[in-house]
Amino acid sequence: MLTASSSRALRSLAHPSKRAYHDLITLPSKRAAVSAGPPGYSAVTGHVVTVFGCTGFLGRYVVAKLAKMGTQVIIPYRDEDEKRHLKLMGDLGQVVPMEWDIRSEQQIAECLRHSDLVYNLTGRNFDTKNFDMASVHVAGAERIAKIAAESGVSRLVHVSHLNASHTSPSTFYRTKAEGEDRVKAAFPRATIVKPGTMYGSEDKLLNNMATWSIWWKLNQAQTKTRPVHVMDVAQALANLMRMPELARTIALPGPSTLTHEYLLELVASVTMRPPSGAPVLPKKVALALARAAQAVWWPALSPDEVIRRYIDDVDTPGDWDLVGVTPSEIESNAITYLRRYRTAENYVRPAVFPSRPEAAQLSS
Ligand SMILES: NC(=O)c1ccc[n+]([C@@H]2O[C@H](COP(=O)([O-])OP(=O)(O)OC[C@H]3O[C@@H](n4cnc5c(N)ncnc54)[C@H](OP(=O)(O)O)[C@@H]3O)[C@@H](O)[C@H]2O)c1
Repeated sequence: MLTASSSRALRSLAHPSKRAYHDLITLPSKRAAVSAGPPGYSAVTGHVVTVFGCTGFLGRYVVAKLAKMGTQVIIPYRDEDEKRHLKLMGDLGQVVPMEWDIRSEQQIAECLRHSDLVYNLTGRNFDTKNFDMASVHVAGAERIAKIAAESGVSRLVHVSHLNASHTSPSTFYRTKAEGEDRVKAAFPRATIVKPGTMYGSEDKLLNNMATWSIWWKLNQAQTKTRPVHVMDVAQALANLMRMPELARTIALPGPSTLTHEYLLELVASVTMRPPSGAPVLPKKVALALARAAQAVWWPALSPDEVIRRYIDDVDTPGDWDLVGVTPSEIESNAITYLRRYRTAENYVRPAVFPSRPEAAQLSS
């Protein structure tokens, strides 16, 4: 039998309440966005958003969060199969795939023509046959920003990296810094978001530590990192849609600074596997192996990634308050992503965590 409150809820779904003034938002471009419908999957926020880089690790969670709010999301893709899972994240017609090439100005313009907000999450950890890191992080980012400005898009959110720096020995971090400058020049009101290294289901941190721990022992595993949950970053990016323009840089590091040594211990402890007995490779040997591995046609650890394994994450304070998210500690999520590495006998055993290194040890 229906209770009074559930029948009221059903009635309100069947006869949505009258539209009110708060359903109308006037975008900076003076275009009106009218929200309608019940909250959730079938709602309509009135916003149209393009997410470049939606097919990646972070992209899928950003699209899911935006589509769940009832925002129409344009998902530019390169490979037909890479976008299939995204189509189901929103109601019928709310997730719109469009083929694109980062070098084609016309395709970029088509992808953002109707959008009032554009996210650029494109990035590459290594050079590929057709694209080096600069062509994605610098030229590609500048092209998107320029076309967004010319097309009258109200807001641009560009995702860079916490460690982006012009003076970094890593090409990845240098190109990310150069990209930020070009984006700011082409679209001065852009919001630049700088997350730390992200972990989650499809990450290259916890998963890689569980399978290739030897590469995380470089630098005696003393490199300091500030891992951040991909869901927290995705929530922060989704929240930006409803916030007034934030024409500034937002740093999103994880809540704690941890060494690779601690993270390797955490992975061994949560997966209930013995800690890796792999040796610590000298930097020259690691670089030579990474260079040799470039001969294979699948993505292998690149020399630039080896260089990054020696670079500590910067010590900037996080801007989480601005985006309305409290970042979670890695221990509260690790089991979700590492359980799959356990044996059948250990699968349901509770997780035990190693003790955290003293703060004083980390700051030395
Ligand atoms: N993962 C991290 O720990 C981390 C930390 C800080 C900042 N970031 C930054 O956050 C953003 C998202 O990271 P992520 O981990 O989601 O990256 P990801 O999984 O590698 O995904 C990268 C996205 O960029 C697209 N892309 C790469 N090269 C492209 C090209 N030449 N043309 C068109 N699209 C291209 C990919 O499209 P395809 O699927 O078609 O290849 C994919 O959608 C990146 O800018 C990254 O640098 C990542």
